[in-house]
Order: sequence, then C-alpha cells, then structure tokens
Amino acid sequence: MKGVILAGGNGTRLHPITLGISKQLLPVYDKPMIYYPLSVLMLAGITEIEIITTPQEQEAFRRLLGDGSWLGISLTYAEQEKPRGLADAFLVSADHIGDDSVALVLGDNIFHGYEFGPMLQRLSQNVQGCVLFGYPVRDPERYGIGVLDRNGELVAIEEKPERPRSNLAITGLYLYDNKVVEFARRLQPSERGELEITDLNRIYVERGEATLVPLGRGFVWLDAGTHDALMEAGNYVQILEHRQGVRIACLEEIAWRMGYIDRETCYRLGSRLANSAYGRYIMEVAEAG
Ligand code: TTP
Repeated sequence: MKGVILAGGNGTRLHPITLGISKQLLPVYDKPMIYYPLSVLMLAGITEIEIITTPQEQEAFRRLLGDGSWLGISLTYAEQEKPRGLADAFLVSADHIGDDSVALVLGDNIFHGYEFGPMLQRLSQNVQGCVLFGYPVRDPERYGIGVLDRNGELVAIEEKPERPRSNLAITGLYLYDNKVVEFARRLQPSERGELEITDLNRIYVERGEATLVPLGRGFVWLDAGTHDALMEAGNYVQILEHRQGVRIACLEEIAWRMGYIDRETCYRLGSRLANSAYGRYIMEVAEAG
C-alpha cells in the first residue's frame, strides 16, 4: 500500500499565521504538524509516501523531511497548484499510487489511540473498496458524517447535514483500493469548485464497498485547522507527554520500533537534536532499548 499526505491548501482559517508559512509546518507543541499524519502512515507499515504541497512550500517540506532515507522510508513530493479539493490527491499522486492500494491522510489531522498501529496494519492488508474511520463528535453538522444501519454497515454519507442522522464524523484518514484513481478521474467539481472526497466515498457506498470503522472512546482525533484547535492540540500533546513521559508522533522512535532503522541510527538521530528535549527523548528511548 502506498501513502499520500495532503499538505497543501490555503489554511485561511489560520490567517494571518498561514500567510507566511504552510499550516502543516506549524508547531503542535514540540514538532511540526506534518509529523503527526506521517507517523500514522509509518505505524500502518507504509513506507512509500508522497507529500502533496503547494508549489511555494515544497522546498520547506523537503528541507524538513528530505527523501525519508534517514527514517528508513521513501518520501516523494508532488505539487498541487491550487486547492482543488481532497479527492484531487488521487489525480496529483496517480503515478505514485501506480497499481497499488493507497492510504490518504490529511496533513492537519492528529490521531492517537491505543493499538492504532496494529489496527491499521490489519485493515490495510488487501483493501477491497474503501475503509473510512468514524469519530463521535458533538457538532456533526460541521462534518461529513457516516450513517450506519443496525448491522454496522455504512449506508450513507451526509455532508454537513442540517439534521444529522448520526454523530460519526468521517476523519481525515482513508484507505482505498486501486479503483480510487479511476473514480477520482470521473468526479466533477462541486459548487465550491472542489473535487469532494465525500462524492468519491459515496461511489464506494453505492457499490456496497465502503466500510466505516468507528473509533471509540479513549481515542483522540483532532484537526488543527483553527486557532483554538491548534492550541488545544498542542496542549493535549504536552499534557500527555508530561503525564506519561511518552512523546507521540516521534518519527525517529517509530522508525526504530517499526524496524525501518536500527537502534544505533535512532540514537544518532536523537543526538543531532540533543539541545532539545525532543532529541534527548530519542536518545533515552534508544538507550533503554
Ligand atoms: P482544509 O482544512 O479543508 O483546508 P485548508 O487547509 O486550505 O484550510 P482553510 O479551510 O482554513 O482554508 O484542508 C484539510 C487538509 O487538506 C489540510 O491539511 C490542507 C489539505 N488540502 C490540500 O492539500 N489541498 C486541497 O485542495 C484542500 C482542500 C485541502
């Protein structure tokens, strides 16, 4: 399975911050935002990942993450000239996807939960159709939501419904079989001029090939797209780290635990950042083995 991170967009809800820098490079406590979605793909066992950015910002992402070899993975970059919508990712990254299945994650989405990695590894094996993830929210009218029947089958997707039939928001992580590229090519732009991921997912629902996996209580899904959400996400990551002493989305640690790099390499990567608490954390976990 290939991975794609959608990290373009205008980030208008974060103005004026995003007038000068990409949203996905902003800090969420101790690391750049894109570390979080990247960590999700790495935990799923995906090692060939394309990062879609605006043309102006690509250089900064390359400077930050390079070709991924330091993490034992492969990172490539693609440009999206205009924010043409989430489903546009499959047109931009069609060559990268080739004839494989694909996981798409939005660059401003943060996931954290017990055993999330093993769950994703299981679900990404041999994907037939699409796999979406639902998260219970207080304000479903702001999201695309999934409606399940009594048997837990996904029967409908509603986009920002005035009267929501469910409170399960569809999160920014999506697994698809290879048909997604063809389906994305057939989409027409919506009224707001975007290729909508909801339209794409509905094609799968209509074919009876869409699954919604509810992420239960005890699971955290945040997007960091507004000033408050960005602050809250940072606070959450900080609290977790202070209480438990663990750092979430520490790419070096994940690369080592997933077997992409060895322990010595992990330690060395930490030592390069030893002036920061983040770097010292990497050295400590690698040393503890
Ligand atoms: P959004 O938050 O919907 O859009 P945005 O980031 O441009 O922000 P705003 O609404 O404040 O203007 O996008 C979700 C994620 O997807 C985000 O990480 C940016 C990315 N994205 C793209 O890369 N290309 C696109 O065409 C769109 C719509 C979003």
